[in-house]
Amino acid sequence: MIIDDHMPDIGESSIREKMIEGLRSHPKTLPCVFFYDQKGSELFEKITQLGEYYPPKVEIPLLRSTARKLNSDLKDCDLVELGSGDCSKISVFLDEIPENIRQTIVYCPMDVSREAMEKSASILRNRFPEVEIHGINADFLEHMEKIPGNRKRFFCFFGSTIGNLTKARTMEFMKHLGEVMNKNDRLILGVDMVKDINVIERAYNDSQGITEEFNKNILKVANAHLGTNFNPDDFEHVAFFNKELSRIEMHLKAKKDLEVTSPMLKESIIFKKGETIHTESSHKYTVDHIMEMADAAELCVSNIHTDDKQWFSLAEMVKR
Ligand code: AVJ
Repeated sequence: MIIDDHMPDIGESSIREKMIEGLRSHPKTLPCVFFYDQKGSELFEKITQLGEYYPPKVEIPLLRSTARKLNSDLKDCDLVELGSGDCSKISVFLDEIPENIRQTIVYCPMDVSREAMEKSASILRNRFPEVEIHGINADFLEHMEKIPGNRKRFFCFFGSTIGNLTKARTMEFMKHLGEVMNKNDRLILGVDMVKDINVIERAYNDSQGITEEFNKNILKVANAHLGTNFNPDDFEHVAFFNKELSRIEMHLKAKKDLEVTSPMLKESIIFKKGETIHTESSHKYTVDHIMEMADAAELCVSNIHTDDKQWFSLAEMVKR
């Protein structure tokens, strides 16, 4: 297994800077990447198992049926997965591909976390020893041109991870991806679709309070990096569908006036009662949105693989 390293050290100081910048903004924010410390990753794993959290329940069977449809198209390709994380999605996908095709595939996971990649890629290698693995330790938002381009590539971006980007960032990302893609390359983009608002809102307000704990965990992550004294109990978990922007927003709302301090900060962080920290946006898409993203990339939508209820889509795009 080869891993190319393109990550400059994201030093502790740049993490701190990003957090402070968010907390000093109006309205206050904390970037959602900071959810995923050890505890946060465990909580997210728990979320994926909740009955109310439908996305993986719809996406996983869809990954299977789509892999079966693509089948021989995948022969001799580099399967590039952006934000590969624990590689659980690609293993479902590979599972449906016949072994004689699998052995012609090179799997190229791309992720910012080298440890996560080493760990998950070695599990994948045990399961599919015939698949060559070429990891790329990099941020797909910045280093897409580092992906080898000498073979036909399938860019996979599953899990509606793209939904965390703002609309402007999404369009920039698509444009860049379109530029990086060669003539025979394809994109398979997983997106969570707009549906009954109650279904969406329940997925982010689960009855066991796991999403609430996940949301509040970001304050513990902030405390760990900034030395702040956030008390998660002082905040309320708020998640609602913003119809105008077609996204779920998660916030943490101060239950009372607060002053958060840290020996590392010259000035404390002041909250008025009811003031919020915006912690995440998770966009939900329509077919029109998919077309808009393809346009930004100057790609053409060749197929939209979806489930009966059209709750989740794997949009397939090719060069025009
Ligand atoms: C991992 C970004 C797809 O937006 O649904 C789950 C994260 N946040 N519950 C999503 C998340 C709250 C998730 N993504």
